[in-house]
Amino acid sequence: MIFGAILAGGTGTRMHIADMPKQFLDLGGKPIIIHTLEKFLLCNSMDYVYIGVHEKWILHMKDLISKHISFRKEHIRIVCGGIDRNTTIMNIIDSIEKEFGESNDNYIVTHDSVRPFVTARILEDNIKAVLEYKACDTVVQAIDTIVVSKNKTVIHEIPNREYMYQGQTPQSFQINLLKKMYADLSEDEKSILTDACKICVVRQIPVHLVEGEVSNLKITTISDYKIAQAMVGGKISD
Ligand code: CTP
Repeated sequence: MIFGAILAGGTGTRMHIADMPKQFLDLGGKPIIIHTLEKFLLCNSMDYVYIGVHEKWILHMKDLISKHISFRKEHIRIVCGGIDRNTTIMNIIDSIEKEFGESNDNYIVTHDSVRPFVTARILEDNIKAVLEYKACDTVVQAIDTIVVSKNKTVIHEIPNREYMYQGQTPQSFQINLLKKMYADLSEDEKSILTDACKICVVRQIPVHLVEGEVSNLKITTISDYKIAQAMVGGKISD
């Protein structure tokens, strides 16, 4: 089975904008997370869509679903988020296995709730790639030159741009593979390896590349939020 996992357990500290996490902010008439959820529900290959939400916001999330979603509601599950992004993913996996059991044929398509412009093509390409390779990441080729500085003062390295990509989401995994790798991490590694694909990379598990889109923007700061508002043609906040 294929499970969508929308990660919405964060509280958006870098946004400094409102009294609610950024995934609940309005974007052209509906909350950011509803845009994201609709994209997942419209993908028929997705058997169920899980949302990992901070416990304080679970009731709010349920209200948003009743208000905005009118199709495939019975395919949605809400789960309590964790202290970090990976813990939110693991809470979702626990919940999946409680309801549907464990199987090598279970796959998870994890996605930031704050990337509302994910496309049907990106979701389908993730599903194809994860079924074939067991782990995949969505990326775009770097447009800018990437400069490495290890002390925030001088340049240490300018890697060949041809090999540079920017990571987006979805990141998709065979559930059993991801669980095993996560269980093998030490507590120190867990605090450093906040990106699920990085866990695969340090364990030398190949992660297949799926082509993303520049428009698959992650809303992290106020300027990202303004760009997103312009993209939906909505009112841009001050
Ligand atoms: N996320 C999550 N569980 C956490 C932390 C983050 O599910 N414990 C989710 C966020 O809700 C978001 C995605 O992971 O959709 C990407 O994280 P980020 O943009 O860093 O979100 P926040 O942690 O909310 O933001 P910030 O780092 O500014 O506090």
